[in-house]
Amino acid sequence: MNEKENNKMDKIVSLCKRRGFVFQGSEIYGGLRGTWDLGPLGVALNNNLKREWWKMFVDGREDMYGLDASILMNGKVWDASGHTGAGFCDPLVEDTETGERYRADHLLKDAGHEADGLSLEEIDAIIVDNKIVSPNGNPLSPARQFNLMFESRIGATAGDEGRVYLRPETAQGIFVNFKNVVDTGRVKVPFGIAQVGKAFRNEITPRNFIFRSREFEQMEIEYFIPPDEDIWERYHREWIDTRKDWFASIGLTAEHLGEEVHPRDKLAHYARACTDITFKFPFGEQELEGIAARGNYDLIQHQEASGKPLEFFDEGRKEKYVPHVIEPSLGVDRTFLAVVCAAYTKDEIDGEQRTVLKLHPRVAPVKAGVFPLMKNKPELMEKARSLYEKLRRRWNVFFDVSGAIGRRYRRMDEIGTPFGITVDFDSLDDGTVTLRDRDTTKQQRVSEEELISIMEEQIGW
Ligand code: GAP
Repeated sequence: MNEKENNKMDKIVSLCKRRGFVFQGSEIYGGLRGTWDLGPLGVALNNNLKREWWKMFVDGREDMYGLDASILMNGKVWDASGHTGAGFCDPLVEDTETGERYRADHLLKDAGHEADGLSLEEIDAIIVDNKIVSPNGNPLSPARQFNLMFESRIGATAGDEGRVYLRPETAQGIFVNFKNVVDTGRVKVPFGIAQVGKAFRNEITPRNFIFRSREFEQMEIEYFIPPDEDIWERYHREWIDTRKDWFASIGLTAEHLGEEVHPRDKLAHYARACTDITFKFPFGEQELEGIAARGNYDLIQHQEASGKPLEFFDEGRKEKYVPHVIEPSLGVDRTFLAVVCAAYTKDEIDGEQRTVLKLHPRVAPVKAGVFPLMKNKPELMEKARSLYEKLRRRWNVFFDVSGAIGRRYRRMDEIGTPFGITVDFDSLDDGTVTLRDRDTTKQQRVSEEELISIMEEQIGW
């Protein structure tokens, strides 16, 4: 990361804290690394992202079904999916002086070496040959596999029966409910099951603010398709394009995004193909969403391990099969960070520097600021307050009377509020208000009906 980008990231982190988007988890006790708490504006932005996703992919489609499975899952789920084995481990090395732990592949990459898919022996050889040391300058221990799941126990049960894990992906909740959804809905392949929820990974080195944390949220779809070998690539491509359209609808347009195809020999243990949609973060272009073709790996694994048939009877084809699956898997927190990074802008208005978050109105946490021009004029206050109450029934809007109008606009610009509405003396005569556009700062006089229709059109609901 160059100095300018480093600086931008620091400013974004500081704005997120100062304006109540994101706080360090357990902050008054010195924090808990890899955890973050959402403040009032953060939770509003987060909810908007999840709602936009659900609206397009569940409510907006006939072929999708929603689900909300438990976070705690039976240990056998994760044995069957392969997560308790080496497939869900990261290579770990320790600083032999301080005991601090690092991801070996990250240290190798930082030192300019290819690090994906290496065995522990290969990692050790590169470390020794290139005299790679810890960030503190101390020798490193040999690499070992570190499983990323948080394990716990249910109640007082001893032995294997009580073994549970906090789910490291929401996906397995979908696979284990496949039969339930098929049996209770009038489901026809192809169809998808969608879920939004928390996931947990004991990341060795959480980093880059909320980009990589130990507790995060995912929005995942398992889209079940017939098993024919010649069709999955078409569905895979369709999902990549569909997901990009959704990103554009929340302000992440093509200029921010890229695509990275995983080489076949570096795929996750369950995947036959995977394409990441990447975002140009200030700390580099990184995975935003993974879109994997998982074949029928998971359903077959669960069918074998549970002894329960997970086949689908296709009425049209008059045959039973275990469907294959395309999996678009997106982190809510990464989307949050991408949206804020894309929106963060410094510009100059009338010779004055301002910070503005050019958030898409659909996701902006506060949709409008309502400002009476002067606070010591009861008739202005009353008119503005009544407009505020009316808008508040539909949207999250903010009423602000303190300070000069320019300052009130700036405070709203910094949190990405798209509409600034000022009630002045003309408003008392003809009912019109001044509507200020956050990005251009241009102002226009509009009636109340016009105001509402502009807001409806841009916010979308
Ligand atoms: N079910 C497939 C799966 O979980 P993944 O690529 O490991 O695939 C999917 O994760 C998405 O979840 C990522 O693209 C990212 O957006 C998000 N994600 C994964 N690990 C994360 C972490 N430690 N912190 C924040 N987001 C994470």
